[in-house]
Amino acid sequence: MRIDIITGFPGILEAPLNESIIKIGRKKKIAEINLHDLRDYTDDRHRTIDDYPYGGGPGMVLKVEPLVRALREVFKEAPEKEARILLPSPRGQRFNHKAAVGLSLEKHLVFLCGHYKGIDQRIHEFFNIDEISIGDYVLSSGEIATLAIVDSVVRLLPGVIKDIESAWSDSFSEELLDAPYYTRPEIYEGKRVPKILLSGNHADIGKWRQEVRERDTRERRPDLYENYQKSIK
Ligand code: ADE
Repeated sequence: MRIDIITGFPGILEAPLNESIIKIGRKKKIAEINLHDLRDYTDDRHRTIDDYPYGGGPGMVLKVEPLVRALREVFKEAPEKEARILLPSPRGQRFNHKAAVGLSLEKHLVFLCGHYKGIDQRIHEFFNIDEISIGDYVLSSGEIATLAIVDSVVRLLPGVIKDIESAWSDSFSEELLDAPYYTRPEIYEGKRVPKILLSGNHADIGKWRQEVRERDTRERRPDLYENYQKSIK
């Protein structure tokens, strides 16, 4: 998969994209990730990427010209018709595990990182862009939402994590929250690991995990639990 990220603040992205699972995906050449500094596509001395909103009000708006130029550069290297362009925004469709699975099947993702009040709406008149929200709260930076989405997608690409089964059986892929996990030591300051996990009886452990998943989902996320009940009927 190819991922291009157009950003006015590449520093927010650099370290997280070079650690852990994403780093493995890049090293194995399963995910090629390119950062594009929006300021490189400006044409004024101050490398201005934002300006005041027409109609007034607080905050700044990302200018349309550098964004269009940056996207056109990307599409010189890879055809636009094979790309999904994504704009993380609280106004977007809600992102979830299912959406991550969908994106993991794409060939090319292009992210536009908004800032301040957002980006000049006319960008939508030049490109087909999907707005995508990671939750009902406002981040100061589209880069942070982009990272969350990129991480959740890259880990699903075959070959990135050893046990792809484990990625597919994570919380939400079966509409139930995942079970809690324990590791050594067996006793820490008097607190024990649940006995069943030490039994070696995999059928019983499986049954225990399923029960805990159902209980926790019912208590913590009744909305998911309702879907789960419908799905097993
Ligand atoms: N940018 C700012 N807030 C956001 C959110 N909740 N989801 C995606 N992008 C955002």
